[in-house]
Amino acid sequence: MKGYVLTPDTLVDEMVERLFSGKRPLGSDRVLDPGCGGGAFIAGVLRWCQTRGVAPPKITGIELNPALAAKARKRFADQPSVQIVHADYLLTSVGQEFSFIIGNPPYVSLEKLGDETQRNRYRARFTSARGRFDLYMLFFERALKDLAPNGRLVFITPEKYLYVASAKPLRQLLTEQSRVSAIDLAPEDAFPGFTTYPAITTLEKGSSGANCTSIRLRCGTTRSPSLPTGGQSWWPHLLTEETRAGSDVLQDICIRVSAGIATGADDVYVRDISNVPARLRAFARPAIAGRDLVPGKVMPAPRRVILVPYADNGRLLPSEKLGSLGRYLAEPLHAEALKRRTCVRHKPWYAFHDNYPTDILRPKIIFKDITKQPRFWIDRTGEIIPLHSVYYLIPRHAGHLDVLCDWLNSEEVGRWLATNCQRAANGYLRLQSAVLRRLPVPETALLYPARREGA
Ligand SMILES: C[S@@+](CC[C@H](N)C(=O)[O-])C[C@H]1O[C@@H](n2cnc3c(N)ncnc32)[C@H](O)[C@@H]1O
Repeated sequence: MKGYVLTPDTLVDEMVERLFSGKRPLGSDRVLDPGCGGGAFIAGVLRWCQTRGVAPPKITGIELNPALAAKARKRFADQPSVQIVHADYLLTSVGQEFSFIIGNPPYVSLEKLGDETQRNRYRARFTSARGRFDLYMLFFERALKDLAPNGRLVFITPEKYLYVASAKPLRQLLTEQSRVSAIDLAPEDAFPGFTTYPAITTLEKGSSGANCTSIRLRCGTTRSPSLPTGGQSWWPHLLTEETRAGSDVLQDICIRVSAGIATGADDVYVRDISNVPARLRAFARPAIAGRDLVPGKVMPAPRRVILVPYADNGRLLPSEKLGSLGRYLAEPLHAEALKRRTCVRHKPWYAFHDNYPTDILRPKIIFKDITKQPRFWIDRTGEIIPLHSVYYLIPRHAGHLDVLCDWLNSEEVGRWLATNCQRAANGYLRLQSAVLRRLPVPETALLYPARREGA
């Protein structure tokens, strides 16, 4: 069953509570549950009404799967206020507006979404069907259309729509046409048996998007930022700790917090350290990739090198100064691979995808870009070139290298990263430089070993 996941009753009750908070339904109101499955939310609405002695509103459940639709129909056969429709919610007109919409729409990514004809049908109908969209994004858009003015919607979906580029049109739509009143990041184990990163979104149709959104993070921290209205990522606005005026964040005490070097052609430029011809050694610098770094282990001796066609001042060497490296790069297989790169279209054919920063050869702290357990290591000599799967930071004061690394490896920073970093598909953390730069650095962090000894 595509996209079927049962919502546990505790979560359902929490969401129904939000749906009717300060907005008690009347018997004449209409409630919609799109993708109702066996009717978990419908049962939740009826429970809410029964507990409070309120007449139930008119409830419509729409379900694509015939077996689930039949199951729901049977379950609510004795409830005259409930109607179950077997249909594709995204392609069927319901012909009426709803004061309340609640649900757990299907999470089905573009790749798993039927054939190209079906994808194109969605693309033609939905502004949010852009890039690598997911079905739940289209449910948001469609539900926004079906919601009556001032009507309220509560959905539980993956948190990804808050930040992925493909959800930009959806974010724009939501802030243009509704007021997103609350976003709660639900616990990772909200759906037993699955590790998910769900967000419960509450919005009211038609109010201005410029108001504050009440945010609750997984660690319990609450905030009330205004969300940007242009479709930009909402994630930075959700971040936990407000930086006190005048206090430092990581970027204030660093010369650089950046991703390592992307060449766009590692097969040509990156070689095993034991396999560097003598003629190329003058251009070879030790390099490290994310897969070389293992949390819990010391930094390994570099196993690879990168061949660098740049001078130490960051300038690309002219081809006549490349000598044996030039001849190596010009070998047909290598030259073809380099010229195939679209990422260097406006640069000389043998340039790296990234510019070559002059400070990359300074003592630095390095870390993996995607990791289950954030870990930081010191490159004390500054000789190692981080490749693109490794990030690095250079403290303003080289004397801070040890205390800073020690603090970055502390539990308090681990907690901050777990709360603030985006998740990769497997639940691993993405330690993006934009997030790391905002890490609040308490004054005590730079005295960290002393404080820890005294603790
Ligand atoms: C995540 S499940 C949620 C089920 C139920 N609402 C619950 O919370 O327990 C999503 C449901 O949407 C249904 N679904 C998927 N695509 C649909 C579509 N285009 N129209 C209507 N229902 C759809 C699936 O069959 C599935 O039952």
